[in-house]
Amino acid sequence: MPAPANTRITIPRPDDWHLHLRDGDALNAVLPDTARRFARAIVMPNLKPPIRTLDDAAGYRERILAALKANRDAAKLSDDGSNFAPLMTLYLTPETTPDMVSAAAASEFVHGIKLYPAGATTNSDAGVNNLDAMSPVFEAMEREGLVLQIHGEVTDTDVDVFDREHIFIERHLNPIVERFAGLKIVFEHITTRDAAEFVAAAPDTVAATLTPQHLLMNRNAIFVGGIRPHNYCLPVLKREEHRAALLRAVTAKDQTKFFIGTDSAPHATHTKETSCGCAGIYSSHGGVEFYAEVFDAADALLAASGDVDSRFVNFMSRNGPAFYGLPVNAETLTIEKVDRPVPESLEFGEHTLTPLRAGESLAWRLVD
Ligand code: NCD
Ligand code: ZN
Repeated sequence: MPAPANTRITIPRPDDWHLHLRDGDALNAVLPDTARRFARAIVMPNLKPPIRTLDDAAGYRERILAALKANRDAAKLSDDGSNFAPLMTLYLTPETTPDMVSAAAASEFVHGIKLYPAGATTNSDAGVNNLDAMSPVFEAMEREGLVLQIHGEVTDTDVDVFDREHIFIERHLNPIVERFAGLKIVFEHITTRDAAEFVAAAPDTVAATLTPQHLLMNRNAIFVGGIRPHNYCLPVLKREEHRAALLRAVTAKDQTKFFIGTDSAPHATHTKETSCGCAGIYSSHGGVEFYAEVFDAADALLAASGDVDSRFVNFMSRNGPAFYGLPVNAETLTIEKVDRPVPESLEFGEHTLTPLRAGESLAWRLVD
């Protein structure tokens, strides 16, 4: 039975294991939504130009920390903003070297390197075309224990856009997993049954993040009564049978391989409502609440005792830290089942942003 109205649940404070924070005014606009909910977030490196080196990551981290201080009231943070930590990533390019991997691993703040196949998504032009040439880098990552985060889609123009993920598994992911047995890999924002089954059957070195949109919606949501640019992201939403498989994967008892990663990816409204609209869905305004809805609808939010179901806690708060080798957060977060409206738009520097569920409502809210 779904949770009744006004139900409250408390979980160890979650982390967002896949997030786009952008930079400058946009960073200032979106960061409070994340910092109010999460203790840490894996920050994606696909700025323009991308975050390629340890120096780039150090500079970006400083800008995020400065934005935290500047927005500490909106984010409800301590005076120095110290109760949120950005976990930085580097963008894998053909110029990435094993030495750069070692330097990143020796830093306290880089937690992974992101592989974008060239051309796969927003700001991925600098990505990798020839994965075989990256073997020395993967070996160094394996040695150093640095996580490889993969956007798992092939980019060949002759491959149907809905098939890009499962073909990536056969052509690229499976060979990497077999060849680098000690390499920790997060298959990011999985969208298909194929991916869920692959990860479930893979060694413990392989895990996956799941977004709220791929758990809540199928590809019909892009075409309801007309084209819906705000439901367009990459990887693109898939058929209902795939959504159902993702739901089974995240709510499987005692699963340890699947965890939260919102892939919240803000774009100004006018850059999505245009003849060639950007890919990306903004969900940080409900970064925990959307998942509560998903688990509630699947009857996996409350245990028979009335306590929060361990499946929700594991997905939100435990599996991610365990995979990344970090402690579970000691602080907690409480949410309650009370409807709240989602604004039509949010401020985004000089522009506006259209959040997921704009003009509709969310079933859960934060309890301060
Ligand atoms: C992301 C973005 O806008 O940076 N877009 C998206 O649709 N998810 C890039 C990405 O993660 O693919
Ligand atoms: Zn992303």
